[in-house]
Amino acid sequence: MDQIIVRGNGPLQGEIPIAGAKNACLTLMPATLLTDQPLTLTNAPRLSDIRTMTALLQSLGAEAASLQDGQVLAMSSHALTSHRADYDIVRKMRASILVLGPMLARDGRAEVSLPGGCAIGARPVDLHLKALEAMGAELDLRDGYVHAKAPTGGLRGAVVDFPLVSVGATENALMAATLAKGTTVLKNAAREPEIVDLARCLRAMGAQIEGEGTSTITIQGVDALHGATHPVVTDRIELGTYMLAPAICGGEVECLGGRIELLSAFCEKLDEAGIDVTETARGIKVSRRNSIRAVNVTTEPFPGFPTDLQAQFMALMCVAEGTSVLEETIFENRFMHAPELTRMGARIEVHGGHATVTGVDGLRGAPVMATDLRASVSLILAGLAAEGQTTVSRVYHLDRGYEHVVRKLRGVGAHIERVKEE
Ligand code: UD1
Repeated sequence: MDQIIVRGNGPLQGEIPIAGAKNACLTLMPATLLTDQPLTLTNAPRLSDIRTMTALLQSLGAEAASLQDGQVLAMSSHALTSHRADYDIVRKMRASILVLGPMLARDGRAEVSLPGGCAIGARPVDLHLKALEAMGAELDLRDGYVHAKAPTGGLRGAVVDFPLVSVGATENALMAATLAKGTTVLKNAAREPEIVDLARCLRAMGAQIEGEGTSTITIQGVDALHGATHPVVTDRIELGTYMLAPAICGGEVECLGGRIELLSAFCEKLDEAGIDVTETARGIKVSRRNSIRAVNVTTEPFPGFPTDLQAQFMALMCVAEGTSVLEETIFENRFMHAPELTRMGARIEVHGGHATVTGVDGLRGAPVMATDLRASVSLILAGLAAEGQTTVSRVYHLDRGYEHVVRKLRGVGAHIERVKEE
């Protein structure tokens, strides 16, 4: 297994290109199951999660090819040869549940393994299932699988009022509704940029959708969708992660392709912390000249502060002046990076959903272990701020969501390398 070695760094300088969004791509890819015509995604990120989704779609009979060094995904599913998303693939990646709505809408049947829990929490899929049930699906949970059947004549439009905001459940219901008979109204829908991107792609495929980006989305079902070519939206989480590198190390870095509207709550917190953030014609420029101020953060659904940037922001707060409280409201077990950061000299106390971080003058490099995707990159950021060497193991978590992390950070002067574990 590979490890990443980071050495404490001085100011960073230069540009980092930001890739297409992993989370958008993972929901755009299953949309190919809604049509027998080709769907092509451009600006796709090169990540292991994308390869997992490719394998899942292929196991269902779709053709999926990765072109132009992985930046273009050419997919088509003339006919599905299987309607079963197998446990072996689903257990690797929860987003696999996103094939359920499209398969059910197109062919009236689907069997998808239940994803089960993951390191950051229980993460049930009850909201996905309730939305499809409201559209007339009959669901049977047995042998660890959801066995789903649409009524004769297909799914029917329905009013779905989500009791809590779920990105994945909104995406599954939105895709299913495009081919349902009649009108579907999704209330308390997620408003994330990835949902807006999915709606735009579905519209390019012929779907009738209004209200994406607000909490009420209305979909008028159509008889069939057609092919399209769609560029994947910028990855706001990769963007926020790299914005934190110059915030932690000092210097000035321009994140190419970034836009503040993707991350306004996060940018406000950076501003409060004393970090300069400016939108340019090419992206977002971040610099720091003064010390970092401690600020409190509460994670919330979009447009609030994203849970997927909480671990990375904690790395910044570890070296801030003063005490900050980070509140995690989306996932119940998302502070696993805290004990690892503590091994590097950080002062963090976790009580339930709150972490109290008291800034220290400096961190010290240490061997640390990545526990999940965002936690792993927070350890790299902390390593950049630490004196001496930090060795991050279990970097396969990182490969799920960050393409060329070493190359991108080296490009702005960071001391980072990837080595094979001895
Ligand atoms: C997506 C993102 C993930 C991000 C999360 C929140 C993808 C591939 N992943 O995950 O990176 O951290 O949004 O922004 O896009 N819940 C239920 N029942 C359900 C579904 C969700 O109780 O049926 C709960 C979850 O346990 C969690 C909360 O709702 O506490 C929000 O989860 P959700 O928005 O669904 O996250 P994902 O779509 O899984």
